[in-house]
Amino acid sequence: MLLDLYKRSINYLRISVTDRCNLRCRYCMPEEGLSLIPHSEILSYEELLRLVRIFALEGISKVRLTGGEPLVRKGIVDFVSQLSMIKEIKDLSLTTNGLLLKGYAADLKRAGLKRINISLDTLNCNRFSLITRRDGYEQVWQGIEEAMKVSLSPIKINMVAIKGLNDDEIESFALITLHHPLIVRYIEYMPSGNGEEWTEGNILTIPEIKKRVEAIGKLIPIPSDQWDGPARRFRLEGAIGEIGLIGPVSDHFCEACNRLRLTPDGKIRTCLFSDEEIDVRSFLRNGGSDEDLRKQLLVALRTKPERHHINTHQFKKCQRNMSAIGG
Ligand code: GTP
Ligand code: 5AD
Ligand code: SF4
Repeated sequence: MLLDLYKRSINYLRISVTDRCNLRCRYCMPEEGLSLIPHSEILSYEELLRLVRIFALEGISKVRLTGGEPLVRKGIVDFVSQLSMIKEIKDLSLTTNGLLLKGYAADLKRAGLKRINISLDTLNCNRFSLITRRDGYEQVWQGIEEAMKVSLSPIKINMVAIKGLNDDEIESFALITLHHPLIVRYIEYMPSGNGEEWTEGNILTIPEIKKRVEAIGKLIPIPSDQWDGPARRFRLEGAIGEIGLIGPVSDHFCEACNRLRLTPDGKIRTCLFSDEEIDVRSFLRNGGSDEDLRKQLLVALRTKPERHHINTHQFKKCQRNMSAIGG
């Protein structure tokens, strides 16, 4: 078992396989995109597999693939299939914006992916184009439908709630869960992108969201299981789907944090909001042994901070963009 300095058990690795993305969400990126990590600096799948195998022996049992957009990286299905064969990895999942999902869902399922999280911030086609600066709402819905058809399960829909942008859609998202086997998760907006300025005034807090969902029907709490992330789970009475509430700002869940992140260029990030990064790429590329890589993992554990500082005077926006961290 991997324990950090605060006795948190770390078993979850989020791997950002690319910083490239086929959307330009306003809260994440500027219109023209961001400067990209050169291909030569991005870890190859072989390098990633070596790392995961070593880390899995130490206690990592949950792996999530993120981006940018993970489905834009060539060879992702084969990579999933290789990861799914690592027996210590008990939970393998992927977070996507859904744009390419229709074409990939069946292959991902065959490759061994069990479940999937899909980012979708609006149910309105024109607003989708406004938020993401690209068209594609219908495509994302077709992706979600395909994921249901091939039985990826559970399917979680991540909705980042932003005042003045999509806060009038809280109820419509909740209503989806009445008739679809989907988990709709509301996420508080965090100060992490290089898109349009984040201000406290834009945050719609989880208590506010919860109150509005409760006006639709009775919200029944669901106990969390061992693979659950930071979401608190609920079901609207009579619904076949679920509601998840993720409140990184109002209810920071740092004391239960179980995760490390790996950036596309091979740095372990110990916290979403800390620019402290532990290099593994130079060990991978300069003949480092498995023991060297294991030691870097232990260094990361020792440097993992106790908490983030959003909403306090100590908060500093991090240098790396969300698209190269993976949320
Ligand atoms: P599950 O395992 O399915 O519960 O997934 P997850 O919630 O861990 O992953 P997902 O990629 O769907 O992330 C959902 C939201 O939670 C995103 O907005 C993430 O940025 C946010 N999130 C995930 N991990 C952390 C974290 O360690 N700290 C903070 N502050 N937010 C996080
Ligand atoms: N605040 C909250 N969530 C965010 N995401 C991206 N940027 C932010 C932000 N500033 C979400 C995406 C995706 C997940 C990986 O992170 O919508 O669902
Ligand atoms: Fe792409 Fe995700 Fe950033 Fe949107 S939030 S631009 S989908 S990386």
